[in-house]
Order: sequence, then C-alpha cells, then structure tokens
Amino acid sequence: MNETIERLIDAIRSRDALVFIESVEEQEVTRDLQAIALSLKQSLISWNPVQHFRDITPQGGIGAMSPMGQVESLAKMLFEINDYAGDAIFVLQDVNFLLNDRTPPSELAILIRNFKLLKQSLRTTNKTIVVIGNHYNLPCELEDDFAFIRRSRPDKDELMKILLSFVAAQHWENQLSADPIVRDMIIDAARGLTADQARSSFAKAFLANGNLDEKAISFLLDQKKQIIQRNDLLEYYDATTTMDSVGGLLYLKEWLKKRKKTFSEEARNLGIQEPKGLLVFGVPGGGKSLTAKAVSGMWQMPLLRFDIGRVFGQFVGQSESNMREALNIAEAIAPCILWIDEMEKGFAGASGGHETTTRVLGNFLTWMQEKKSTVVVIATANDITRLPDEFIRKGRFDEMFFVTTPNINERTEILEIQLRKHKLNPEHFDIPKLSQLTKDRTGAEIEQAIMEAKINAFNENKAPTTDDIYDAFRSVVPIWSSFRAKVDSPEYKQIIKAAKPASPQDSQ
Ligand SMILES: Nc1ncnc2c1ncn2[C@@H]1O[C@H](COP(=O)(O)OP(=O)(O)O)[C@@H](O)[C@H]1O
Ligand SMILES: [Mg+2]
Repeated sequence: MNETIERLIDAIRSRDALVFIESVEEQEVTRDLQAIALSLKQSLISWNPVQHFRDITPQGGIGAMSPMGQVESLAKMLFEINDYAGDAIFVLQDVNFLLNDRTPPSELAILIRNFKLLKQSLRTTNKTIVVIGNHYNLPCELEDDFAFIRRSRPDKDELMKILLSFVAAQHWENQLSADPIVRDMIIDAARGLTADQARSSFAKAFLANGNLDEKAISFLLDQKKQIIQRNDLLEYYDATTTMDSVGGLLYLKEWLKKRKKTFSEEARNLGIQEPKGLLVFGVPGGGKSLTAKAVSGMWQMPLLRFDIGRVFGQFVGQSESNMREALNIAEAIAPCILWIDEMEKGFAGASGGHETTTRVLGNFLTWMQEKKSTVVVIATANDITRLPDEFIRKGRFDEMFFVTTPNINERTEILEIQLRKHKLNPEHFDIPKLSQLTKDRTGAEIEQAIMEAKINAFNENKAPTTDDIYDAFRSVVPIWSSFRAKVDSPEYKQIIKAAKPASPQDSQ
C-alpha cells in the first residue's frame, strides 16, 4: 500500500469530508481510489464537466449507483452529492478550473459557501469528496476545509512493480534483462518520472532497442532528461564534469571531498550527518557554477539545475505548487544535487508580490531543514546582498564559501587547465609570467583571453604565444575592478565574515 492510499484512508475514516489530492497523475490517483473503495466497500463516483457523474467502482465492489443524469454545473453537482443516499467517494476532476480567482465573485461566494455547508452535512454520512488537481489553487477561504494530500512520484519499489506489470501486460518478459543489477539500473534511470511517464519511457526503450537491457539505460536517461526539461523548472545533468576541470578553490574542494564519505552506509550507521546545503558566492567568473557541476562528478550524483525564477507563476497558488513539483521531482531522483545558480536573480524576478516570494521562500527553507531524502542544495550567488536575509542566517546552509579572484598559484593551475581544454600545450607558454601578469583576473577571464588569443593567432596563420594571451588580457577591463566596490560594501563584508574563504589568499 502506498503512502497516498494510507493517508486517504485515514482522511476518510476520520471523516474529513473534503480532501484535495495534488498530483500530476490523475489515473494513478483514480487507481488508488478504486483500491480504497474496494477495501472500504464504498462506491466510487467520478464527476467532471464533460462526462458528468459516472460510477467507476471497480468490479467486485458493491452495486452500481443509479444514474444521476446530466449535471454540468458545480453548484448542481454539489447539490446532487448532498442528496445522494448511499456511501460513496466522489472524485471530482477539473474543479480548479471552475473555481478560482477568475470565477465571478457572486458565483464564487455561493460555491465556497456550498462547499463549507456540504463539509458539515457530509460529516455525519459516509460520503467523501476528493478533488484531484495538478496543483492546489482553490480559493484561500477553503484552505482549512480541505485535507491536503500530495501524491509523491513512485519510489524504487513502486517503479519496479510498474516495470514488471507493464512487461507482463505486453508479454515482453523475455526482453527484460534478468540481471538484478541491470534491473536496478533501469529503475534508477526511471526515478523522478511519474508512473505514466515511466511506462511510456519503458515502451519507447523497448521499441528503440528491442530489449530492456543495459543498452537501454542511456536511452532511458535521455528520455528522463527530456521529460524533466519540459516543465521548465529543472534541467537534468549527468555526473560528467569532474573536479579536474576546476583550478584552485582548495578549501572549498577539501570541504566537498570530506562530505563525500558522509553519504555512505557506514557514516549513516555512525550517525554522521550528510550536508543539506551549501552556498557559494563571490566574483562572477570565479568558477562557482563550474564547481557546482563538478560536485556531481565528485559525489557521483546527478545534478538538477533549478531555475527558481520560473517558480513564480501568474495565478494564485501556482508558485507554491511549482515549488512543490520541483522538490517532488528532486526527492524522487535522490540522491541528487539540486543546484540553484545565481539564486539572487531568481528571487529578484519574482512576480506575484513580495508576499508570495516570502511564502515560497519559506516553503523552500522549511523543506531544506526537514527533508529526509538525500537532496543536497548547492546555491550560487554573485551579489549575495540581494538574497533575502533568511537565506544567509546561520544554520540554513551547512556552510557558505566566498570566492574571490584567484591567487597566483590558482592562476597557474587555471592557466594550465584552460590551455589544455582549448587544445594548447601549457609547455609552449611562459606560465609563471602569465600567472604574474594576471592578478585580479578571474578564471572565466583567463579562459576568454586564451580563446581570443587563439582566434587572433589563427587569423595570422600562426600558433598563439604567451604575448598573444597577454595582449588579449590587456584589451579587457577586469570585472574585479567594478565588482570590488560591491565586495567592499559593509553589507557584503558582513556576510563574508560569516563565510569561509574558498581558497587561501595571498597578496599577489
Ligand atoms: N577556478 C576555475 N578553474 C577553471 N576554470 C575556471 C575557473 N573559474 C572559471 N573558470 C572558467 O570560466 C567559466 C565560467 O565560470 P563560472 O563557473 O560560470 O563562474 P561563476 O559561476 O563563478 O560566475 C568556467 O566554465 C570555466 O571554463
Ligand atoms: Mg555562475
């Protein structure tokens, strides 16, 4: 029995006459409800504005209801439910389209009152109303009247059941790998998908590959990437970037390396806590985003890039449900990294007023403190002073690291990494000289200069030299010259004090 079913049965037994289930999987919820109707020996009656009332009690359940006829309006429908004589669970679809902030006020007032009255009168009956919706956006006046249940995405056990029953239904048993390790990898590749999406991915993988074996795994992962990308909130990255591509940032790297072991069974048995979140802030181009991506390689966890600015929707309640949806997916994919890049921009772009932003932010912070699954938040920011105070308060993130321009040793490392990345041999360049001459230049600027020098040399039909790279630097004003003023402001300095330096600093 899944958690949703348990919570629903509790709600029905304790006579919560009105229940809202938030789920993107209408069919799965309906299936859950059918199982409940069977075990509670009640009828299951669905209603939506197109098909009206229908008896969807599963076979073996108690007798069908008498038809209630064409009932198109919400008010009439509630009236019919009130009058209905038997025990039943009424599952209502599309209610959130008929009852929201665009409903005319006079109509809205009546509907809200109807729901409230119905709640009271149903209390003494065995009738329950279950509303299903993608996201909860009923009028706030009804917030306390509905018991709220969110249906999580399937976990590993459920996905395995889905896979096996799907394979059996298609008679594809022989095409599914018998190797338990491969099966586990198949399930892992589907984690984060809804039941429907998982089924459709399995089907596509069969069709593309002929079998569901290890060769289908990359196909499944690719499918998942596409599906997750579709909601615009999250972007999925495999754990491919490694720390070898990051120069310097020694203290930050050490911290991350030590945390890797906290995810092991052994650490868990010893009661060692895994990190909840990390905040990395500082100069643009300093390698913050690059490091976030490399953590996924170091920890061997997929990375979900979370665009927090897209959470804020136009309609009442939409921001909250977008936030829940994103966190829901992250929890289903866990263990994973939830990366919020340039976090201050996401909140700055928030529409829907200050109140919504604060509430959604509050939801996020609460989730971060209370989450049970391994979803490590890595947030990056340039202008940390633009982040709401709640974020920087002690204890929110396990640690905050401040990234400034690289010291001379770091510049050496970055120059070597970037030269190699751009297919140049570091031995052909005077690295000590370039390291000396690039004080106050960021990693991104070092990379830019190398690319620029390559293009210039290419146009002159020659190989780039140390001087070409140096020339490329001289034509650009370092970002540090303007960013420094920000870092020197009292507010920024205050936050730096509460943070750790990402690397040892020297005077050069
Ligand atoms: N410390 C570094 N080591 C190696 N490359 C770096 C470093 N910092 C920046 N870069 C290069 O500059 C690019 C942009 O840096 P990025 O990580 O986006 O900076 P930030 O997120 O701090 O603004 C990186 O993809 C990388 O190629
Ligand atoms: Mg960045």
